[in-house]
Amino acid sequence: MEKKNIDWSNLGFGYLKTDKRFVSQFKDGKWDEGRMTEDDTVVISECAGVLQYAQTIFEGLKAYTTEDGRIVTFRPDLNASRLADSARRLEMPVFPEDRFVEAVKQTVKENAAYVPPYGSGATLYIRPYMFGSNPVIGVKPADEYQFRIFTTPVGPYFKGGAKPITIKVSDFDRAAPHGTGHIKAGLNYAMSLHAIVTAHAEGYDENMYLDAGSRTKVEETGGANFLFVTKDHKVVTPKSSSILPSITRRSLMQVAKDYLGLETEEREVYLDELADFAECGLCGTAAVISPVGKIVDHGKEICFPAGMEKMGEITQKLYDTLTGIQMGRLEAPAGWIEVIE
Ligand code: PLP
Ligand code: COI
Repeated sequence: MEKKNIDWSNLGFGYLKTDKRFVSQFKDGKWDEGRMTEDDTVVISECAGVLQYAQTIFEGLKAYTTEDGRIVTFRPDLNASRLADSARRLEMPVFPEDRFVEAVKQTVKENAAYVPPYGSGATLYIRPYMFGSNPVIGVKPADEYQFRIFTTPVGPYFKGGAKPITIKVSDFDRAAPHGTGHIKAGLNYAMSLHAIVTAHAEGYDENMYLDAGSRTKVEETGGANFLFVTKDHKVVTPKSSSILPSITRRSLMQVAKDYLGLETEEREVYLDELADFAECGLCGTAAVISPVGKIVDHGKEICFPAGMEKMGEITQKLYDTLTGIQMGRLEAPAGWIEVIE
C-alpha cells in the first residue's frame, strides 16, 4: 500500500481529513450494523441532543507503524470500556465493546495510507465519538445516536515535542466532586476552553487544575494526567475520582514497576509538596509523556531540577520504554498490542 505524500516529520497536532470513517446509528433501541463512508460531514436536526444539551462523548487512541512494518494500536479494549462508562454516565446507549475494537481496526485499515511511517515521529490519531442526534427540547436524553470514528495523522501535541513546558496553577476548576471529570465527555472540554485561552495568553503551555472541593490537591490538565518522580525515583500519580483514568498513565505505572523496577504510588498529591519532586510529566495519548519544567502558582515558581532543556532521567526512561512497546522495539505485556496488518 502506497503512503500519502505528507511531510510526516513536520506534522503538528491538527486535523487532516483522511479517506474513510466509520458510522453506526442507534434507532428504535438498537445499533445498526455500521458502515464505512467517504462523507466527512454530519447532517442532524437543529434541535439534536448534542447541539442543545451537549450529549456527546469521545475517545482518543493511536495507530503506530512498528519497526518491522506492521500497523498496530495500543490497548483499544480500554478505550472501548471507558467509552461505555462515559455513555452510561450521560444516559447514552453503550456501543458494544467488541464491535468498538473491530470498528477501530477497520477504520485504521481503510486509512492505512495515512498511518505515518516508522521513525517519522508522527502517528495516526483515532477519534471515536458518539452524540445524541434526534430533536430534544425538554431536558432529557436523546432517543437516537450516532457512533463514529475518524482518523487524522498527527505530530506532537505540544510544540517543541520533548522540550519541557511551563504550567500554570489554574484559578478555574475543571470538574466537580461527584461530577463528570472521570469520563470523556465533550462538556469537560468546553468548560476548559476559557481557562486554556487565558493560560496561553499569559504565556503558559497548560493548566494544572486542582480539586474543586478544597483546591489543595493536584488533579490533571485539560488533556492529560500528571506523573511525578521523587528524588529517590518513586513514580507518583494523583488519585482522584474526578480525573480521567488515563490509559497511558495506567500503562506507565505498570511499565515503571515491571520494566524499570521502580516503586509506584497512586495517592493524593498536595500542591504544597510539588517542590519536593525531582521530575514532572504529563501523560496521555496525545501528550505521550510531555515533560514539565516549571509550574507557576500565582507568581511562585516551582522549577524541577531537570530544567527547561530536556526530560528528566526517569521521565525519559518511561518515555523510551512506552514508545518502545508501542513501536514494537520492546516486547509488550499480553493484550497491549492489537495488530491491524
Ligand atoms: N486526561 C484528560 C482530561 C484527557 O483528555 C486525556 C486524553 O485522553 C487524558 C487524561 C489521557 O488519557 P489517555 O492516556 O487514555 O489518552
Ligand atoms: C487524547 O489524548 O486522546 C485526548 O483526547 C486529549 C485531547 C486534549 C487531545
